[in-house]
Amino acid sequence: MKKQSIVIAGGGSTYTPGIVMMLLDNLDKLPIKTLKLYDNDAERQEILAKALKIVLDEQAPEIEFSYTTDPKVAFEGVDFCMAHIRTGQYRMRELDEKIPLKFGLVGQETCGPGGIAYGMRSIGDMIELIDYMEKYAPNAWMLNYSNPAAIVAEACRVLRPEAKVINMCDMPVGTLRRMSQIIGKTPDELTVRYFGLNHFGWWTSVKDQEGHEYLPEIRDYVAENGYLTQIEVDTQHMDQSWQETHKKAKDLLAVNPRYLPNTYLKYYLYPDYVVEHSNPEYTRANEVMAGREKRVFDAARKIIETGKCGEGDFHIDNHALFIVDLARAIAFNTGERMLLIVPNNGAISNFRQDAMVEVPCIVGTDGPEPLCQGDIPTFERGMMEQQVAVEKLIVEAWVEKSYQKMWQALTLSKTVPSAKVAKDVLDALIEVNTEYWPELK
Ligand code: NAD
Ligand code: LMR
Repeated sequence: MKKQSIVIAGGGSTYTPGIVMMLLDNLDKLPIKTLKLYDNDAERQEILAKALKIVLDEQAPEIEFSYTTDPKVAFEGVDFCMAHIRTGQYRMRELDEKIPLKFGLVGQETCGPGGIAYGMRSIGDMIELIDYMEKYAPNAWMLNYSNPAAIVAEACRVLRPEAKVINMCDMPVGTLRRMSQIIGKTPDELTVRYFGLNHFGWWTSVKDQEGHEYLPEIRDYVAENGYLTQIEVDTQHMDQSWQETHKKAKDLLAVNPRYLPNTYLKYYLYPDYVVEHSNPEYTRANEVMAGREKRVFDAARKIIETGKCGEGDFHIDNHALFIVDLARAIAFNTGERMLLIVPNNGAISNFRQDAMVEVPCIVGTDGPEPLCQGDIPTFERGMMEQQVAVEKLIVEAWVEKSYQKMWQALTLSKTVPSAKVAKDVLDALIEVNTEYWPELK
């Protein structure tokens, strides 16, 4: 097996240590020659990089490890860029969540006005990353899980249609792990059918290797408990706010009992409930800064201080296994079946061809081949038509620097009640995003 060279873009991400630990745990599946970290915040990245250097010296000294803020050094010679950047960092995520709440609207990282604001910030940086990769490593693939993935994916489709970029999300992976727990299986024993947009979709089938259909059984469980399970199965989505989200799947299923819902649909189906249950002074950004971010950076500082990685300092990030599987599928043509965000092109037969949809794909050396999911029903299709139009308008607004299209995008979002409120929240978001958004005319 050829050893791979990898750059992690967003080297200072809270997820970097978990992903590196996962890569180290899978060197038999995906051998690594070079591992580089790249970030545009040298100071933040250096804390994690210095700690990871100690971990690598302990566990895999043969891997050439380095970190940089120079894109040429970062991208030259790599086979893969694993990208998880956050334009504007947590400071801006907090505003994405708190500003909409001031207007009585959902304040969330990827859904509603906050997600739209984050999308407008991310497009330019993601395109810049792709351009670096194409310039310095023209044969490389970018495996992108930077959010908001739906908007980023649409921007890639429009602005860099030929680029070797695959957009992906861990939410369906985490929820499948919960489903497998519910029926006493492991995720790798199950094959799913699924359709939707990113953070906006439904499972239509969950089968085991003998072809037994578990959808009715899982549905009965979810109708009672949502996706809440007794055992810690989903390492990433464990905080209190996530437990409430898993539980709320029960009410999503009540609206549409046919299929199993993605948890993010709660922001579109129950925006009023979400606002009522949000604390405008303390949102998810605060929870992550006080939780995951603090934990990860404290652990890194401890490793640097002591010169060794103690038990439990850095954890293997189980959810990151899907990134290893994806890289492996491309590097070694494994034909892995995975849910990815790809141009529709008929995968959902009665949905617009030029939408970026999330569907099962077979992945090999040439990237993903989407599997046809057939026609979808009116309710889901109606919701998706509305949401995909929002995502397209945002990308058009970014390209054309159009205030009008941003206003339309916000007006069309199912999370916003009127054009008046859409305009008010847009003006407030523009005010704090001048450093990041194009100047709208
Ligand atoms: P974070 O703020 O801790 O890390 C992001 C890093 O990206 C920061 O160090 C920042 O300096 C860096 N960065 C920002 N702009 C950059 C640029 N232009 N070039 C290089 N580096 C840049 O954030 P986090 O909570 O660790 O999340 C990272 C990303 O992963 C977010 O976009 C988040 O939404 C996403 N995420 C995606 C999934 C998924 O499954 N799709 C799951 C979890 C998190
Ligand atoms: C994160 O942890 O930042 C993302 O996975 C989304 C979230 O709110 O947990």
